[in-house]
Amino acid sequence: MASPQTLEIVKATVPVLEEHGTAITTVFYKNMFNEHPELLDIFNETNQKLGRQQTALAMTVLAAAKHLENLATLLPQVTQISHKHRALQILPEHYPIVGHHLLGAIKEVLGEAANDDIIDAWTEAYDEIADVFIQLERGMYEQEMWEGFAPFTITEKSEAATDIAAFTVVPANDDIDLNKLKLSAGQYITVKTDPKDSDHIALRHYSLYSAHSDKGIQFAVRRDNRNEYNGLVSNYLHDHLDVGDTILLSAPAGDFELNQDLVQQNEIPLVLVSAGVGVTPILSMLEAQVAANPLRPIVWVYACQNKEHHAFESKVNELLAAAEIVEKHIFYFDSGQILDEAWLANLPKPADIYVCGSMMFMESIIDGLMNLDHGVDSVHYEPFGPKMSLELA
Ligand SMILES: Cc1cc2nc3c(=O)[nH]c(=O)nc-3n(C[C@H](O)[C@H](O)[C@H](O)COP(=O)(O)OP(=O)(O)OC[C@H]3O[C@@H](n4cnc5c(N)ncnc54)[C@H](O)[C@@H]3O)c2cc1C
Ligand code: HEM
Repeated sequence: MASPQTLEIVKATVPVLEEHGTAITTVFYKNMFNEHPELLDIFNETNQKLGRQQTALAMTVLAAAKHLENLATLLPQVTQISHKHRALQILPEHYPIVGHHLLGAIKEVLGEAANDDIIDAWTEAYDEIADVFIQLERGMYEQEMWEGFAPFTITEKSEAATDIAAFTVVPANDDIDLNKLKLSAGQYITVKTDPKDSDHIALRHYSLYSAHSDKGIQFAVRRDNRNEYNGLVSNYLHDHLDVGDTILLSAPAGDFELNQDLVQQNEIPLVLVSAGVGVTPILSMLEAQVAANPLRPIVWVYACQNKEHHAFESKVNELLAAAEIVEKHIFYFDSGQILDEAWLANLPKPADIYVCGSMMFMESIIDGLMNLDHGVDSVHYEPFGPKMSLELA
């Protein structure tokens, strides 16, 4: 437990550090990657270029420092981050490296203003925060379904919609027994790839579109091409990996999951809202709900560019047909159909709502739902990028 003096210094200096947050983390990453180039195989190069992860890691350390005397209040946020860390195989020995370079960056940016007392207090604070992560992640490693990145063989590759490839993979060796895997709707796996046009190994998360493991582990990947840039891993998976090839996967992770207390009741409907490839975790939730209790009312809301981009249409229709009370609403943006706050006002209330899509889509849906007084506890979401960037937006 940090001393009262440490707490006082840390709290007094958080605002100053927040002001210099971007500068501190820019220096931090530059120095850390200079000294530990091997970490470039873990961090997402594109997030680095776009400055996304910079904000997430640094801002979380500062946010955590504000709650130093009671870090337990941050457990939900820490748990979500720790799932990502476990999926990426971040280990206890990585924490002192991050701590050393974060402290070094604070010194470098604040200059003389960072006296010994301040640095000592922040060292103590970082160690305490890191310890919370390390302990939580230790528990996750003990429970992971397999160790590290294991080889899987691709047994099926099909088109779920234009630019969306659906993969089924099975363990390449006998260490992992498909029948014993306990997948959960909403989870993601993490692939480890070595794309030819990159100097580094690249890790990416992909949500399971089914929590059944009888055929294998199933995920779907959209070609992520924006502006003149082609997404590194998604294009690699589309263009270079096929049936019979091997891919490395770490065990399923994530805490985006159906509220189990509500699955068996029929008063509070399940509302599933997704756009584009964001349908993946939401589809697995639909499947899980229908299997567990087909009597619960379900509202299915899906948005995409047009019919060609409509992902998993027939699979969704089959599942909805198996449920008792269903509303289905499809929005094709190319046809000018708009999913906005005015439309969201039609949704039942109370409802248990799950949202997944692009950052822009989710921001507008979540804002709309909040304005319509759906409480934070009823709205669950999974961004396909750092969660912090959405929370800070
Ligand atoms: C929990 C979670 C679950 C996910 N589930 C899925 C899923 O089920 N299906 C799915 O398809 N994706 C999913 N994703 C997203 C996925 O992990 C990848 O982020 C996505 O495939 C893009 O990776 P990439 O390597 O192809 O693109 P990257 O190389 O990481 O590029 C990302 C984007 O940035 C653009 N870009 C690249 N460089 C630049 C630059 N210099 N300037 C401007 N723009 C640039 C690219 O065009 C691309 O649009 C999920 C993500 C998370 C966090
Ligand atoms: C107390 C220390 C740490 C904090 C507060 C922290 C915080 C975060 C946050 C907020 C995210 C974004 C989560 C999301 O996607 O929603 C993240 C992701 C990530 N963290 Fe950490 N982290 C810490 C330590 C570490 C360490 C020690 C490493 C490894 C050296 C690490 C590597 C990563 C990587 C690789 C990602 C994925 C994002 C990317 O690749 O761009 N983190 N962390």
